[in-house]
Amino acid sequence: MPIAAGKMARAAAIAALLSLSSATSLYSTYSFNPLEHLGGVAPYFEPEDPPTDPDPPQGCTPVRAAYLVRHAAIYANDFDVDEYIGPFTDKLQNVTNVDWSKIPALSFLSKWKPPMTDAEEELLTRVGKLEATQLGVSLSFRYDNFRTPERVWTSSAERTFESAKSLVRGFETNDNTINVVTIYESEQAGANALTPYKSCPAYSSSAGSKQAGVYQDKFTKPIVARLNSLAPSFNFTSDDIYGMMELCGYESVIRGSSPFCDLDLFTPDDWLGWEYTADVQYHYNVGYGNPVSGVVGLPWLNATADLLFKPADDPTVQDLYVSFTHRELPPTVLVAMGLFNNSEFGGSEATINSTMPLDRINHRRAWKSSHVLPFLSNIAIEKLNCTSCSHQGFLQYLKDRNDQFHGYSERCGVDYQNSTDVLTIYTDPKVGNGTSVGKRFLRETEVW
Ligand SMILES: *[C@@H]1O[C@H](CO)[C@@H](O)[C@H](O)[C@H]1NC(C)=O
Ligand SMILES: *[C@@H]1O[C@H](CO)[C@@H](O)[C@H](O)[C@H]1NC(C)=O
Ligand SMILES: *[C@@H]1O[C@H](CO)[C@@H](O)[C@H](O)[C@H]1NC(C)=O
Ligand SMILES: *[C@@H]1O[C@H](CO)[C@@H](O)[C@H](O)[C@H]1NC(C)=O
Ligand SMILES: *[C@@H]1O[C@H](CO)[C@@H](O)[C@H](O)[C@H]1NC(C)=O
Ligand SMILES: *[C@@H]1O[C@H](CO)[C@@H](O)[C@H](O)[C@H]1NC(C)=O
Ligand SMILES: *[C@@H]1O[C@H](CO)[C@@H](O)[C@H](O)[C@H]1NC(C)=O
Ligand SMILES: *[C@@H]1O[C@H](CO)[C@@H](O)[C@H](O)[C@H]1NC(C)=O
Repeated sequence: MPIAAGKMARAAAIAALLSLSSATSLYSTYSFNPLEHLGGVAPYFEPEDPPTDPDPPQGCTPVRAAYLVRHAAIYANDFDVDEYIGPFTDKLQNVTNVDWSKIPALSFLSKWKPPMTDAEEELLTRVGKLEATQLGVSLSFRYDNFRTPERVWTSSAERTFESAKSLVRGFETNDNTINVVTIYESEQAGANALTPYKSCPAYSSSAGSKQAGVYQDKFTKPIVARLNSLAPSFNFTSDDIYGMMELCGYESVIRGSSPFCDLDLFTPDDWLGWEYTADVQYHYNVGYGNPVSGVVGLPWLNATADLLFKPADDPTVQDLYVSFTHRELPPTVLVAMGLFNNSEFGGSEATINSTMPLDRINHRRAWKSSHVLPFLSNIAIEKLNCTSCSHQGFLQYLKDRNDQFHGYSERCGVDYQNSTDVLTIYTDPKVGNGTSVGKRFLRETEVW
């Protein structure tokens, strides 16, 4: 009975593993996964921070929900390639006087080839497509009492559109029942797009680089020294280190694993330094350190609140709204909502920047980009039917947030004529019904 024998062998192997882990747990349970500390390059994971029960509270049932989702994993972001990864891989090709095979932590470099080509930059990887499809399936499980949505919205970039398509394929039970609606990534859309930061002149995509650079220099200094002592003629720079660590994330979502993630190459503290550098960047870019963040995020929150409270007999209403965007929007919505605020308990609006010092890591911060904007990061707002939870209370909260962040066009310093402060894509008939996506593998002759 080969099958039973196989099962027994496996059972024995599992028993051996179990006894091993219970033996080691007497001394240490430390484990560290760099992929959960990679900010915008982190593959999808659910941080469970705080580890609250994802099920609705006792006595409540979700009756409507809206999701804002960052696109899934891509081969590489062009900025990351131009600034960090490209210069490192070019230098690796140029430098021929290092015998990598003799350097234990770096020996893989003697055979390693970059995982992405120029043509693949910005495209979804297979892991990305699979994970977006998986999110579609898991949303259909989570909301099995909801009607299938008619439309899913996405900003117009290929990576967001393809993510939306993959999610739809996972969600649909029959082909072509859900349409994807594309919203152009205009620089003059005012608040009425899924990329309102692009039409906000007061937002700058480089905000935070200066501050992040200070911490990058600090955390990479000992790593540069360590690697240069191993391979002096390579002349590792701070940006090389940053790019090598980014490659851990990108290569993992392209090839399934990466030698750059090896903890013998970069230690857990090295990764925490990388993560903090990213968190400083996003704090000043799309977080609490940028006065315009909440202004950019509010219109989505506000439009979503409207959708969730539309009367159930409105024929246009959906039970589930899903929208795809880029990494910038979800964090600004979190600021508009007042979530992951480092100052919430102690401190004030005025001292928020001091919660992200540039000379050491604030390990107790609430603002962690790895939790807020990994690939496929998604924010959900659910309307719950409960006996104890008040609509009035929510409206008061929404009014407070509006008082704090209203006035998109004025506060963005809009310099074009026809701006708007309101997001209307979900209800404006002019936006249209979108198009269906088809099945990727539908070739009748090959189906049996
Ligand atoms: C690689 O070598 C070429 C040709 O010598 C040079 O132009 C280029 O700047 C070098 N690149 C790096 C990253 O060293
Ligand atoms: C304003 O006009 C420009 C150019 O016609 C258009 O691209 C943009 O979407 C408009 N913005 C709004 C908010 O209607
Ligand atoms: C090492 O790289 C840095 C930064 O690019 C450069 O300024 C320095 O001259 C290089 N040193 C050597 C020895 O090549
Ligand atoms: C963050 O928390 C502080 C302290 O409670 C508060 O003053 C500030 O308004 C909050 N920031 C936002 C954007 O909600
Ligand atoms: C935090 O720093 C940013 C960038 O210097 C600045 O624009 C912002 O006003 C600061 N926030 C506070 C509350 O001082
Ligand atoms: C909310 O729950 C109550 C009590 O279970 C039920 O009667 C009502 O139909 C529910 N409403 C919705 C919108 O699901
Ligand atoms: C928020 O929604 C309210 C009520 O629908 C509306 O009056 C207000 O203009 C909206 N503000 C923004 C910024 O969307
Ligand atoms: C969109 O769908 C609705 C409902 O099915 C229909 O009434 C409307 O005419 C459609 N709009 C377009 C632009 O096709």
